[in-house]
Order: sequence, then C-alpha cells, then structure tokens
Amino acid sequence: MTGPQHFDRHASLYTRARPPYPAALWGELAELGLLQPGGRVLDLGAGTGQATGPLLDAGMRVTAVEPGPALAAELRERYPDAVVLPSTAESAVLDAASFDLAVCATAVHWLDLDLVLPRLHDALADGGHLAVWMNEFGDPAVTTPFRERVGDIVARRGAPPRTERALDPAEWPVALTAGGHFEVVTARRFRWSVRLSSDQVRDLFTTFSNWSAAEVDEAADAARELGGVVTEHYATPLIVLRRR
Ligand SMILES: C[S@@+](CC[C@H](N)C(=O)[O-])C[C@H]1O[C@@H](n2cnc3c(N)ncnc32)[C@H](O)[C@@H]1O
Repeated sequence: MTGPQHFDRHASLYTRARPPYPAALWGELAELGLLQPGGRVLDLGAGTGQATGPLLDAGMRVTAVEPGPALAAELRERYPDAVVLPSTAESAVLDAASFDLAVCATAVHWLDLDLVLPRLHDALADGGHLAVWMNEFGDPAVTTPFRERVGDIVARRGAPPRTERALDPAEWPVALTAGGHFEVVTARRFRWSVRLSSDQVRDLFTTFSNWSAAEVDEAADAARELGGVVTEHYATPLIVLRRR
C-alpha cells in the first residue's frame, strides 16, 4: 500500500525496524547550536519518535505532530514527555513564535510545502531554524550484491514505479526557500551503514510505503541467500535553514 497510512498500519513494526539516525547528524545539529536544553522544538511527521527521542534526550521541549492515530498512540506511550498533536503539519494548531526549531525527519516528501512553510515561519520565533533530513535506504554511491538484488526487484515493477511523493534532496534548497520564508544555513550528506539479518530486512522493508509484501519476501530471501546478514549503506542528507 502506498501513502502515509502505510506507516500507521505498521506502527509497532516501525519502532522496531527503522534504524536510528546517525550520531554524526545529531553532532552537526549540536554544533550548530540547535539542540539547546529547554529549547522548544516542533517534530513534524514524528512517526514513533526516531527524532523525538534524541531531541528529548538533548533536554529539549518537544511538540510532535503525527497524523497517524496508531503512530501517535505509540509515540505518546514511548515519549510521555513530548506533547503529541494528532494532526497533519498542514492543519496543526501552532501558536505564533512558539518554537525555536522545527525538524522534519524522513517526512518532508509528504508535506504540502506551499501550506507548511508559511505556517512554520509563523510558528518559529525570530532566529528560529528548520532542519530537514531523510534516510536514503541504499546509498546510490555504493553497490553491493544485496543492492543489486534490490535493484532487480524494483526494476521489475515496470513503469510508472510506485513511489512515495517525490521530493529529491537535490530539490530541497529551492523547494524549502520558495516563498522567501527561509534561507539555507548549511546542507550536508552523512554516509553510514548497518548490518541486517534477513528477518531485519523483512521488518524494515515492510515499513517502506512503496514495497509490496511479495517484494519484501524477495528482499528477505535475497539476504538469506547472500549469507543471512547483509551490510546496507545508507545516506542521510540534511539541510538546515534559518527563518527570514
Ligand atoms: C517515513 S515516516 C518518518 C517518521 C519519523 N519522523 C522518522 O524519522 O522515522 C513519515 C511520517 O510522516 C507522517 N506524515 C505523513 N503525512 C504527513 C503530514 N501531512 N503531516 C505530518 N506528518 C505526516 C507519517 O504519518 C509518518 O509518520
């Protein structure tokens, strides 16, 4: 099933299967002075809290926006210290100038930026920042036997490919400054890797909104045939913008 409802159907699996974001990304945000204890942060499309948790650990006051009811329930249970708003980023009720930072982790491609960017501009205080990042599951710069098998599965889908709403990170600087609400501070790309068993491949790929159950089976079979554990190379582009 495609679409954001996919994540809600797999809420508990999502928590277990999705890897945490790399420490280097959190280090970069800290170095930029964005992770201030007591700072007010808005986590857009929070899912089950892969960004919410580290933001709370940094001592920040987190408001998490999550429209999926099962995801929002899981988020509340995992992180009772976060304020959870069960709504979309387009419709969440946010007080003016009430946040120092907004983050959007692997969710920006679901948002209607024409609506969301002006709303974030209102919700952020003077000097506030927006940090957007996204896991690319499969660094295009690294080829592995497992990635070749994944490529074969995807190639067999035929056209048009079933994809999430597309917003390529290469488009972020233009898309996120459109309307003149934000200016780019920095853009970086983190490269990292994880080792996944075939069961972990099954769990993780099940959370991908554009993968069918049969395709997930094939990917898990490929991992098993390649020795049972595969190394996956990921990339995580990050862009940080300042409120204008
Ligand atoms: C790939 S998940 C990312 C979740 C989490 N931020 C993370 O880093 O793992 C995308 C999330 O965006 C949420 N989402 C989809 N459309 C949204 C919208 N219009 N406003 C806010 N969140 C949305 C989905 O419910 C889902 O939780």
